[in-house]
Amino acid sequence: MSVHTENIRKVTVRSLADMKRRGEKISMLTAYDYTTAGIVDEAGTDVILVGDSAANVICGHATTLPITLDQMIFLGQAVCRAVKRAFVVVDMPFGSYQTQPAEAVASAIRIMKETRADAVKMEGGEEIIDSLRRILDAGIPVFGHLGLMPQSINKYGSFALRAKEEAEAEKLMRDARLLAEAGCCAIVLEKIPAVLAAQVASELTVPIIGIGAGAGVDGQVLVSHDMLGLSRDFAPKFLRRYADLQKLMNEAIKSYVSDVKTGDFPNENEQY
Ligand code: KIV
Repeated sequence: MSVHTENIRKVTVRSLADMKRRGEKISMLTAYDYTTAGIVDEAGTDVILVGDSAANVICGHATTLPITLDQMIFLGQAVCRAVKRAFVVVDMPFGSYQTQPAEAVASAIRIMKETRADAVKMEGGEEIIDSLRRILDAGIPVFGHLGLMPQSINKYGSFALRAKEEAEAEKLMRDARLLAEAGCCAIVLEKIPAVLAAQVASELTVPIIGIGAGAGVDGQVLVSHDMLGLSRDFAPKFLRRYADLQKLMNEAIKSYVSDVKTGDFPNENEQY
């Protein structure tokens, strides 16, 4: 069903909190461009994330580290031009908030001013809490992100499951409480045991959105390129593919190439 009929009600921080209160699951997907964002929004997705995963799926980098603040703003602007209903979150890229709180708040203000997004997302707990509080104090809603934090890949050394040992699980729980107390409007938990994620979601009133964190949380997020079957060579256990767009595109493009070569395209109805 299309949500773009009439009287579109924009999803807000309040609606997200209400959804958690009444037990309605929150759907979240990434988008990085105007056309895809329009499709993702019209299909009824609650939250659209302009993720720094753009570094991987859009730019072809091996990690999310190289993408810049200017590049995230460029993508955020394109997405926000298309979206009518969904709550739009833009990732703060690596290097835009890890130095000083003043720099973090300046980066977040640029994102909000130049893209018109609804919130920013930041990876980390205790280590970034001063910057996160300054951003919240500036009136900017923040999504937290704990568990596997791709911006810290060089510290971890792999994209393996996080927080399976007790000490890391306890730290994650402490960090989640800290982010919730600070006033985050949601927290993303990436690639952690389902039992731990469910525990966080049941203890805290803030919406918890999982990716590879099981069903006991308040919502789910996936990278749209992955769930649509556009990305190659990425098949973690948690990923469900809803389409094989790579195959469809490949077939369509092969047909086009063949029609051009044989002279079948364009025909007399496709010319002036
Ligand atoms: O950048 C991204 O796409 C993300 C999701 C994996 C949550 O942070």
